[in-house]
Amino acid sequence: MTGIRQRRQLLREARHLAPGASEEAEHGRRVFAEGRGPVLTDLDGNQYLDLASGTLTQSLGHGHPEVVAALTAQAHRLWNVHDSATPDRADLLELLARLLPDHLDTYAFFSTGAEVVEAALRVVQATAEPGRNRIGALRHGFHGKTMGARMLVHWDIGHQSFSGNSVLGYAPYCYRCPLELQYPACDVRCASLVRRHIAAKPNVSALVFEPVLGAAGVIVPPPGYWERIGEACRDGGVLLVADEVLTGGGRTGTFLAAERFGLEPDLVTLAKGTANGFPFAVLAGRAGLLRRPEAAPPGAYASTFASNPLGIAAARATLEVIERDRLIDRVRVLGDLMETRLTALHRRFDVLGQVRGLGLLWGLEFVTDPASRTPAPDIARAVYTKALDLGLRVALGGHILRLAPPFTIDEALLDEGLTLLADAVERVVTP
Ligand SMILES: Cc1ncc(COP(=O)(O)O)c(C=O)c1O
Repeated sequence: MTGIRQRRQLLREARHLAPGASEEAEHGRRVFAEGRGPVLTDLDGNQYLDLASGTLTQSLGHGHPEVVAALTAQAHRLWNVHDSATPDRADLLELLARLLPDHLDTYAFFSTGAEVVEAALRVVQATAEPGRNRIGALRHGFHGKTMGARMLVHWDIGHQSFSGNSVLGYAPYCYRCPLELQYPACDVRCASLVRRHIAAKPNVSALVFEPVLGAAGVIVPPPGYWERIGEACRDGGVLLVADEVLTGGGRTGTFLAAERFGLEPDLVTLAKGTANGFPFAVLAGRAGLLRRPEAAPPGAYASTFASNPLGIAAARATLEVIERDRLIDRVRVLGDLMETRLTALHRRFDVLGQVRGLGLLWGLEFVTDPASRTPAPDIARAVYTKALDLGLRVALGGHILRLAPPFTIDEALLDEGLTLLADAVERVVTP
């Protein structure tokens, strides 16, 4: 329950705050005052285990001391000199070169996910061969709310689709297969269609995709999907632009989710976990693309907050900890634990249509019953608010709950969180 001090604060806000908050804020109605590691504290002193890591951002947990120290030191030194070099930037560039696949050796810095997706689209458009004026994307993909990103977005939050000049291909959403087929008998027909409609089309310049579709509910492609599409795009001269705003930085058990599927993207976008929740984004790409004069005229990668020294300090500290403490190995270990616990949860409750994930990124799809598979946003919302009341925070979107714990959480606490989640589902389905 939301305590009295929080309720008072929310009433004050409501007088002036524009509506349109996320479902989480709208239904959670909490005023969070502090975050330490995996734990949040609200204004009334209640504590929550945060298995949503902020907004799937704080891979090292809230207020990680090394990131706080780097930001504090930078805040005392220097805030903004446009995109001029600062002492940390060369270190961050070299760190990225170590963490990313060798062919992604050139980088530009931005502040948000949508902004870096826009930057990737500008590179695609500037370098496309004449006649390649369309861009491919996937149904159920999410790439942000700016106009260019929305051109690619089928799964659109609160807005009409704005598909413009994009071509949408089938996502590997086996639980709700649009072709009404079953894997593996389907022979991954969705991938064959993406190949035909996007990869083999001479008027398509790039396929922009999430290797694992995050916002739509952690849709993990079956074996064969990316292999076929990746190869066909390469053969057809269609650039691969992996939007790893959510999955990048180790969340799925490799630094890029693309690596798990053997994909070699030409461009990659990173944001959420890159600076542990501080606004910061990276466009990574092949030198041959990002250094092309058409893509990089003066000012092409600059903007007011791009390459901001505070973001660079936070990203450098975050990625150094991930590298030094071999946290991506931890993601895989903790991911196995999550898989075991969530598979058991799935078996226990009929309202859980499917549980899917990879590493420390999981989606729970709620349905009214297993036979009809009718999406059940009311149940998801009830579980979300019940979990908060029990001291657990997860991420809510429609009929999906997502879990993205910090890489630094220990097994016992993660296990406790999953027990609280089971408890919340139990209380919702047993009146
Ligand atoms: C894959 C992906 N791309 C882009 C975005 C947009 O990022 P931002 O909200 O920082 O603009 C998101 C946000 O959730 C995302 O998940």
